[in-house]
Amino acid sequence: KALKIGLLPADGIGREVIPAAQRVLESLSGPKFEFVTLDAGFEHFQKTGTALPQETIDTLKNECNGALFGAVSSPSHKVAGYSSPIVALRKHLDLYANVRPVVSVKSASTPHQKQLDMLIIRENTECLYIKSERQEVDPKTGMKVAWADRRISEYASKRIGTMAFNMALTRDKLRQQKPESERFWKHKPRVTIVHKSNVLSVTDGLFRETVRAVKEQNAEKYANVDMEEQLVDSMVYRMFREPEAFDVAVAPNLYGDIISDGAAALVGSLGVVPSANVGDNFVMGEPVHGSAPDIAGKNIANPVAAIRSAALLLEHLGYTTEALQVYGAVDKVLSEATYLTPDLGGKSTTSEVTEAILKNL
Ligand code: NAI
Ligand code: MG
Repeated sequence: KALKIGLLPADGIGREVIPAAQRVLESLSGPKFEFVTLDAGFEHFQKTGTALPQETIDTLKNECNGALFGAVSSPSHKVAGYSSPIVALRKHLDLYANVRPVVSVKSASTPHQKQLDMLIIRENTECLYIKSERQEVDPKTGMKVAWADRRISEYASKRIGTMAFNMALTRDKLRQQKPESERFWKHKPRVTIVHKSNVLSVTDGLFRETVRAVKEQNAEKYANVDMEEQLVDSMVYRMFREPEAFDVAVAPNLYGDIISDGAAALVGSLGVVPSANVGDNFVMGEPVHGSAPDIAGKNIANPVAAIRSAALLLEHLGYTTEALQVYGAVDKVLSEATYLTPDLGGKSTTSEVTEAILKNL
């Protein structure tokens, strides 16, 4: 039976990189796919008054095995009636983890690049992203004050922590299948808990304690996984100084968002970093980048992040062989450095890079 995949290109370069990822999936010899393109995004909101039609949610929930999301152009100011469809989708489909592998590829054109192979696991449902904000006038000063609530729950922290330890084991298993010389990470699997509980001892304190307890309560299962912690500010510092020191990093929503864009800079571009929004019953691949209005419509967006997101989707649907095939083709094109988009210092178009990847499959 064909796998049904919902495609939500949404806005900006989403419309250029999602079709590229679709072509890669279509060219695989293993699984057969049926694609359904669904509406979402800020432009859809401007046309119809809704950024996420009920039909899109229903089709994903009732008919699809997985989905690929492009990017949405959320404005930085408040627009009446609008709220981000990606944040809403994560909630509707209970996609509680955002899994972001950041991997460097050796290439003659990027000798300065640090070597890293880390997996950032970002909690996807709470923290400041519950968007409980309000504004009032401070009676003392007569000036405006704005507030935001931050929610950290034991429930969400436990399930994200459990995922982090499980992923550390899965990555270790995959690594063991590679020859020693090709293994980048030579240590025991490691989970780094990212927090700021020296200041936010109640909220981040709960996150930290709960993730720590996951290991302590499953001592035997995770005996081989090292656990360490890092305050989020020094996490940024260490990531830039010695990114090779990280295997799996697990973080509350906002910190996870910020450190993953930072990690993207270490591997050359936001245009190569994929993610998967993962729940117990559904997976949605999504490049880490946004809609990039500065380059949209020019056929120069890097399709690699979207293509790797499609591979991540395959991986989470159980098609590991096909996923590895896609990663391999992408790595080959990046390391040969003949076809690179401008963000990586090349002159190729989105279409040319996609063709090159298709040829290497
Ligand atoms: P952005 O990720 O869209 O762009 C940041 C910079 O990276 C830009 O210079 C852009 O040209 C470059 N870039 C991003 N992806 C690229 C690719 N595939 N190839 C080559 N270059 C690439 O972030 P920005 O500019 O902060 O936000 C633009 C819009 O995207 C905003 O409306 C924001 O709300 C939205 N956004 C949406 C996200 C999502 O849909 N999940 C995530 C992040 C931002
Ligand atoms: Mg982001």
